[in-house]
Amino acid sequence: MCGIVGYIGSRPAAPLLLDALKRLEYRGYDSAGIVTLTDKFNVKKDSGKIAEIDSRLDLADLPGTCGLGHTRWATHGKPSQRNAHPHVDSFGRVAVVHNGIIENYLEIKQELKKRGFTFRSDTDTEVIPNLISFYLSRKLSPEQAVRRALSQLEGSFALGILIRDNPDKLIAARKESPLIVGLGKNEMFIASDIPAILPYTKRVIVMHDEDLAVLFSRALIIRNLKSWRRTVRKPTLVKWTLEMAEKGGYPHFTIKEIYEQPAAIRETLRSSPAEISRLAALLLRSKRFYMVACGTSYHAALVGKYALAKLADYQSEVVISSEFQESCRASAGTTVLAITQSGETADTLKAVRVAKASGAKIACLTNVIGSSITRESDVVCHTHAGPEISVVATKTFAAQVAFLLRLAIETARCKRTITSSQARQLMVELQELPKVVERVLRSTERPVRELAQKLKDVEHIYLISRGIGYPTVLEGALKLKEITYIHSEALPAGELKHGTLALIEPGTAVIALIPPGDARSRMIGNVEEVKARGAWVIGLTDADADVGAHVDWLITLPRTRELFSPLLYITPLQLLAYHTTVLRGQDPDRPRSLAKSVTVE
Ligand code: F6R
Repeated sequence: MCGIVGYIGSRPAAPLLLDALKRLEYRGYDSAGIVTLTDKFNVKKDSGKIAEIDSRLDLADLPGTCGLGHTRWATHGKPSQRNAHPHVDSFGRVAVVHNGIIENYLEIKQELKKRGFTFRSDTDTEVIPNLISFYLSRKLSPEQAVRRALSQLEGSFALGILIRDNPDKLIAARKESPLIVGLGKNEMFIASDIPAILPYTKRVIVMHDEDLAVLFSRALIIRNLKSWRRTVRKPTLVKWTLEMAEKGGYPHFTIKEIYEQPAAIRETLRSSPAEISRLAALLLRSKRFYMVACGTSYHAALVGKYALAKLADYQSEVVISSEFQESCRASAGTTVLAITQSGETADTLKAVRVAKASGAKIACLTNVIGSSITRESDVVCHTHAGPEISVVATKTFAAQVAFLLRLAIETARCKRTITSSQARQLMVELQELPKVVERVLRSTERPVRELAQKLKDVEHIYLISRGIGYPTVLEGALKLKEITYIHSEALPAGELKHGTLALIEPGTAVIALIPPGDARSRMIGNVEEVKARGAWVIGLTDADADVGAHVDWLITLPRTRELFSPLLYITPLQLLAYHTTVLRGQDPDRPRSLAKSVTVE
């Protein structure tokens, strides 16, 4: 996620903005920049860490008492000087910093090019200052020019905007991306997050969706972008310490990121339909299709395999990256999709290089634009979960699964295993899922906390499911292992009788995930099987299932399609891992012996 800061007042803006940007570093970023406004825009920006950029460019050395700063997490266009924010329009009238994604930027860019606007970057953001500039040239007031421009944007945004000919005001707007206004004494601030401005003010107004704020050093006007009605909002007095503020008030990044899953799914689904079409076309041209990945990404790939088979009647092989060289053969006609949130995992890079040397085409799905895997790939696709700070992957799993479900729908549509109207219906339901996940988070938090109390001292937890529930329990078990350090083992429920049943004894904890689908009655049979050995069974199922009578502890989830169930059912398992870890007095953000990016084989 990008970070935004803005200042208008009487102090030199650039040193203050630089300090505020450093306080946003924890959000993760690949580039940074500052613009100040005097009689013109003064811009310094580059890719890299703030300290490096600062030592090269002296970011604080810019004149003016009003300006914007930005840390960029690339979503369109790789990390580079020209793609770094702030962006200024072709006529030098408007400067913008942006957090979010503009879906229809290509159409707007085409239109603006016809009207004589030129573009210097590959970003979606650059259309925004140019579109505002276009409306300014039509003699609209700054506020109306911004309003008209924003009404044309599809997607999400938090924006800081400066207009060259109006140096007394700073304009801010938001839709689905966070933004706050800070009120100082004869000075005002904007920021993506409270920590950025905490040393300067503790009086904060959280902007709402569709708010447009005009900041003067001594006044603030907030209007609704659509109705243009003025709203007065009382500032909140922030009592957080800096550390609390970085985590948005959550005690750990892990739980913050679990709660960011609806946004991660939403952003991933709305971005890059072109990437999906290109990948689906490549799949359909391929004689053989492998997905290679490690850990959590491997579990997401397994969900993808299931979805492709079910919806598109398309056979794929999912291989753990470190096993690819030994167990798989690639040749011309083979496609390998590498799934890696970091894009830097050595095992996955190695598998891809081996496949490439045998003539395979390479595609990747990564959360980090410009990461190493993108340089190895013929087709590059992205999840848009924003940077993941916690070592354990949570929101990036949700984003990967959302992407792969969308890929399965598109592949099925192209292959005509489903009709276009069925594909549309599935997409509508998929786009509803972020809201459903929000409901799951709200409704399961309390029962999961209570369950964590019961499980915190057990030595073993077994997780069972069938079909698409199997990768979900694999992922749940990995979360439990990584941060609780409790031995957790996931297996297809049908496999119990082939060995593991011998370990089930009175009191053994078994989590049975029973999503909707054909396998439900067989799952209930497996629950009876472990109960007969005295297991203490926790059932996860939807409201309609008559499962309560068979289990000792029930967690109820909203109804969904079997295909979409991983996105809902993983959430209580992640919450369980988190709360159990906290109850055991361990730090979920820093699990022992693990690193976020595994760059060694
Ligand atoms: C689990 C986890 C790891 C990673 C694995 C692959 O919580 O974080 O299992 O999923 O190391 O990492 P990427 O996806 O970056 O290739």
